[in-house]
Amino acid sequence: MFKINSLSYKYLSGREGLRDVCMEGVAGDRIVLMGPNGSGKTTLLSALATELNSKGSVEVLGHSADENLQEVRRRIAFAGDRPVHLEELSGIENAQLFADLYGLERQYAESVLDNLFTRFGLSKVKHFPVSSYSHGMKKKLQLVEGFVHSPELLILDEPTLGLDPLSLEEFIDFIVQFKKGCVVMATNDPLVATKVATSVVFLMDGSVVAKGSPQELLDQLDEEVKVEIWTSGSEQKITSLESDGMVARVSPDKIVANMPSDVAPLPELMKTILRAGFEISRVEIARPDLSDVFLMLTGRSLTEESAVAREQLT
Ligand SMILES: Nc1ncnc2c1ncn2[C@@H]1O[C@H](COP(=O)(O)OP(=O)(O)OP(=O)(O)O)[C@@H](O)[C@H]1O
Ligand SMILES: [Mg+2]
Repeated sequence: MFKINSLSYKYLSGREGLRDVCMEGVAGDRIVLMGPNGSGKTTLLSALATELNSKGSVEVLGHSADENLQEVRRRIAFAGDRPVHLEELSGIENAQLFADLYGLERQYAESVLDNLFTRFGLSKVKHFPVSSYSHGMKKKLQLVEGFVHSPELLILDEPTLGLDPLSLEEFIDFIVQFKKGCVVMATNDPLVATKVATSVVFLMDGSVVAKGSPQELLDQLDEEVKVEIWTSGSEQKITSLESDGMVARVSPDKIVANMPSDVAPLPELMKTILRAGFEISRVEIARPDLSDVFLMLTGRSLTEESAVAREQLT
């Protein structure tokens, strides 16, 4: 379905968006890209959508990205991270523009759109101007527009940001039932990634740092549970706790520790925390998720910017 080989991309500013990325997908694959801000997710999705003039090779649906672009683009859907619409037109008018763009016959397009508006819970607002839509509604409209021409390759950048819990479940169902082709999407939501992905790709500073099924990646964690301890304490005390091997992360209000599922080391850890002068307000035991695997493999949190992005801000 697609094959990316030794792909590198430099922005005009000189920033390296991608470094020597290799990846491939076949029908039935649902590939989820995860990585901190600036790690290259959007750049990689844009390259796959044949929108970048990059180094290396991108082959999509049997065509090289630098030859038959029209044919390729007719068979893919690319929903970027920021939905763009003609705000004064209604949802259905915006979606019809996409149907026209793809040359769909009017009557056929109407019935497809009818289904999609129902599916994404937008039927009641389809005749309202998009300017009156919430962010989540605009994201859903973007998906309706993306799916109108029955694409074979879905390229979705942060598609679940802003979706309410019900829409999120519907979106996940929709993607999991999409068997005809391949899905490549970016999200840093570990729950969404685990439910959707047949394979997860971790990106860091434009490079692939790990890939595997959610279970394969989770199996790399030796520890079986994550204990979150809500505390109050001073910066200095926090620093002293960080040297404890069991403690994975310390933030101003929370200490996160990994340990075996029998939580045998927990009482001792709590004693240490109390002795250090912290007050404990709540303790939660949770299964580690893909964000913990990312932290373990890279030493970096999914919620912080990549080194390159940080450098750029300074
Ligand atoms: N238009 C641009 N011009 C210059 N540099 C860019 C541009 N877009 C992205 N970059 C840089 O390329 C790198 C990768 O950015 P990219 O947007 O692909 O990351 P991302 O993983 O999608 O981040 P986010 O989670 O914030 O969406 C970063 O260093 C970023 O600053
Ligand atoms: Mg992005």
